[in-house]
Parts: sequence; C-alpha cells; structure tokens
Amino acid sequence: MEWNQNYVIWSALISLISVVWHLRSKNSYKGSKLPPGPKGWPIFGNLFDLGSLPHRSLGALRQEHGPVVWLNLGFVKTMVLLSAGAAEEFFKNHDLSFVDRFINDSMRSHNYDKISIAFGSYTPYSRTLRRICTSELFANKRINDTMLIRQRSVDELLSWIENEVEKGESCGIVVRHFVFPALFNMIGNLTLSRDLVDPHSEISSEFFMAMDGVHECVGRPNISDLLPWLRRLDLQGIRRKMDCNLGKAIDIISEFVKERVERRRQEQKSSSEHKMDFLDVLLDFRGTGKDEPATLSEYQVTVFLMEMFFAGTESTSTTTEWAMCELLQNPDQMKKVKAELARVVGANKKLLESDIDNLPYLQAIVAETLRLHPPGPLLIPRKAVRETNFMGYSIPKNTQVMVNCWAIGRDGDSWEDASSFKPERFLDSNVNYKGQSYQFLPFGAGRRMCPGLPLAHRIVPLVLGSLLHHFMWELSGGEKIINMAETMGAGVKMLHPLQAIPKRKIM
Ligand code: HEM
Repeated sequence: MEWNQNYVIWSALISLISVVWHLRSKNSYKGSKLPPGPKGWPIFGNLFDLGSLPHRSLGALRQEHGPVVWLNLGFVKTMVLLSAGAAEEFFKNHDLSFVDRFINDSMRSHNYDKISIAFGSYTPYSRTLRRICTSELFANKRINDTMLIRQRSVDELLSWIENEVEKGESCGIVVRHFVFPALFNMIGNLTLSRDLVDPHSEISSEFFMAMDGVHECVGRPNISDLLPWLRRLDLQGIRRKMDCNLGKAIDIISEFVKERVERRRQEQKSSSEHKMDFLDVLLDFRGTGKDEPATLSEYQVTVFLMEMFFAGTESTSTTTEWAMCELLQNPDQMKKVKAELARVVGANKKLLESDIDNLPYLQAIVAETLRLHPPGPLLIPRKAVRETNFMGYSIPKNTQVMVNCWAIGRDGDSWEDASSFKPERFLDSNVNYKGQSYQFLPFGAGRRMCPGLPLAHRIVPLVLGSLLHHFMWELSGGEKIINMAETMGAGVKMLHPLQAIPKRKIM
C-alpha cells in the first residue's frame, strides 16, 4: 500500500517536472529556425519514430521532410543528415562546430567518456591519442611492419575452419564464430603481442564475453539518455550492466598492462632488449607538445587498448560476414572474385597482404559491402559545440547530430540501382571511402573520421579473400536466399548469423 502511494506521488511529480521542462525547452528555441521533422508526442517527442533499426526509420523521413531532419528524442535535440549534399556541407564547413561526441549514459561508466577517443569530447588529450594511434598503429610503415602478425591470425582462422571441414558437418559453420575470434586475436597481437581468445583459457573467454556485453550496452536505446532526470533510476539496468562488463574488461586488460610494466622493469635491470609493440609505445610515450600529457597512466593505457578491441573487431568481422552473404547470393560476382584470386594469387598459393593492391575486384566487393551494410550506419553521433547556422537553420548548442551514412549510401540521387549489390560500380571510379566522397561515408569524415581505416583497408580484403580463395562455400540445405535481417548493437550486424558450408577446393 505504502509502495503504491509512493509510486503514484513519484510518477505525478516526474510527469509534472517533465511537462514544465518540456515547455521550457520548447520556449527556449522560439525564434530559432529549426529543420523540419515529424511531429512528436509530449515529453517523449519522436522517441517512437526511432524503431528498433533507427537508420532505416530515420532514412524513411527523407521523402517527407528532406535531407536535414529535426527530432526531439525525449529531451535530446537531434539533427539527422540524409543526403550527400548535407553531409558535404557538414564535414567541409562545420566539422569543428560539431566536433564533440554525444555522450550516452553507459559511456560514463568507469569515467570511460573522459579518456575514450571514440566516445569522448574532442580535447587535447583525445587529439594526442588519435595522433599516437595514427602514427604508431595505422601509419603505412607500421602497417607494413606488422603484416606477418595479421597473416598468422588468418592462418589460424583457416586451420580452425579446416578442422571443421575435416569433421564434415553437413549444416556447415556459423561464419562469425570463426571470423570474430580470429580478428580479436589479430588486434590482440597487434597491440599486446598475445592471443586473447583461446577456448582453453578461462580469462580470454571472460574478456570476450565482457566486450560483447559492452557492445550491447552502448548500442541499446536507453531511457536514461532521452529523459535524463530518470538517469539515476537506471530503469533498464543498462548502466549497471555496463559497469559490470566494462569493469571486467578493464580489470583483465589492466592485468596485462601491469604484467608488461613488471617485465620491462626486470628487462631494464638485466638490460636485455625487448620487442616493441603498441603497448610498449604507449608506456614509452612522453608528451612534448603544449597540450600533451607528460605520460599516460596505466589506466589510460588500459582503456586505450580496450578501445582498439571495441572499434576494430566487430566492424571488420561484420563487414566480412555481410560480404560473404552478398557473394553467396550473387554467384556471378562470386565466380568473378574467385577467378581474380586464382589469377593473381595462384591456385595453390595463399593470399598475402601484398597481393591486395593487385585485386581490384576484391576491393570493389569490400567497398560495395560497406556501401550497403556500413557497420556504423549513423556513424558515432556528434554534438554541437556552439549554436551554429547550418544550411539556413539555427542549430542550438548541444544538439546531437546523426549522419545517416546507410541512407546516403542507398540514395537514388547519388547511386544508380542503389539497392543492388554491384561491385563493378567501384571499378575505375574515383569514389572511395576515404572521407572525401560524401555519398559514401562508412568510415565517416572530418576530424573524427575512423583512424583505423588504413588497417581495416588491409584486414577485410585479407580475411575475406583468404576465406574465398581457400574454400568453396555453399549455403546449407541447398538454400539460395539468406535472411538478411539486421539487429542493432553498438553497430548493425546480421540478426541470423550466416551459416555456410566450407568445402575443400578441387585443385
Ligand atoms: C570495416 C572496418 C571499420 C569501419 C567501417 C569503421 C567505421 C568507423 C566509423 C563510422 C567511425 C566514426 C566516424 C565518425 O564519427 O565520423 C569510427 C571511429 C573510430 N574507429 Fe573505426 N571502423 C572500422 C575499423 C576500425 C579499426 C580496425 C580500428 C582500430 C583498430 C578503428 C578505430 C576507430 C576509432 C579509435 C574511432 C574513433 C575516432 C574518433 O572518435 O576520433 N576502426 N570507425
């Protein structure tokens, strides 16, 4: 009884506060010209327009409201860009005015937003981190130096699948169950010189599960973000789950960092040489620039490493999976790419990273897959640093901005036969994903563009090309059509993971 009374009082109070807040926030935009958008509900605004696949629901608004759409998501003012023209204006002329990230509640867990590159504001600290990873992890020379590490992870992936072929399961394998751990280990070896996913190690599978939980929490729509006064209640328990998973992932990586610090201490004493990897680079970092930190703390190093796993594994493995799906449904393109691999690599040789430059059709397949299935369809939302005049609209400070690169990539104004899988469109074309072709932005553009692009540009063709060159693939049960339904976590992936049968090539 007492609980019921309290509940009613609290609900009434919260509703009253929200109505007042809503009216206040409405008044404060009076006189400012906002972009058009669908009418919303009191308090909830356009929350229900988002649906479970927001890139699709928001993409559909273009027809009625045009390329720049305004939404009130609960109390979060949001601008959505839906055309190449709007994206060009945004990245070319207003990048700096919208350079911050919109930070959601789960990212505040363990002060993650304060030291994250991807999910934090654009501060001197985050710029220093971007510079370190651009010069130490993603620079061309560094990428060339680490070629063998990636090759080893791919060899391991192929041998895992070989084992499955040996077993001769007629229903095939779930492709991502092999590709994802291989990519996880690839990032593990590039950064920490160690495998992290090993079915026999409890620690590694714990880390894997924790990272999976982090992905889910970041991607789930959270009422605490949209109605901030409810944040403390954490109604969906997302913050608690994030605290737990992120805490676990941080604990595990921080053990690796501590271990390395100790080893370096011992090695210094015995003055023996150690091999430098990315973790060493971070521990050796000494800031010299005006705004740079003097050194990076162990906690900062830990979170930085974790972010590389977070950003680098799911994106590359889902792209590989989507590409396999498209090829399995498009036998002509499958034939063409296999012929190219056989011609350039040689039927009995294994694909090397150095072959990729000579495989334009394979690269076109990766590009076409990223056009139709960008893993981050709304990029990572930005935030207005100041009030800004954008395309004749007055955009208030703190507005969240989503660039719908999924809708832009399927826009009939920019692409012929936009929804068909046609890798040929990228052959002899100047359009690429490097951030200057505004009709094609799977890695974003501007100051917050994906710094991992040069690495992804090698990893995805290497993994995909190796799978295609090493095995013949068939759908299980003789099926011809794959269920391409999507699900949204931190990014978009297949709702029903691809299951296919690998077969040994007939030489
Ligand atoms: C197919 C592979 C990949 C795709 C499609 C992709 C896509 C993206 C996108 C869309 C963004 C946000 C850009 C923006 O808001 O403008 C981003 C940010 C980022 N990505 Fe990637 N990414 C990929 C692979 C990688 C890899 C392999 C790494 C590192 C190992 C990485 C590290 C990052 C980081 C650190 C950021 C945050 C940048 C910032 O906020 O300043 N990504 N990525």
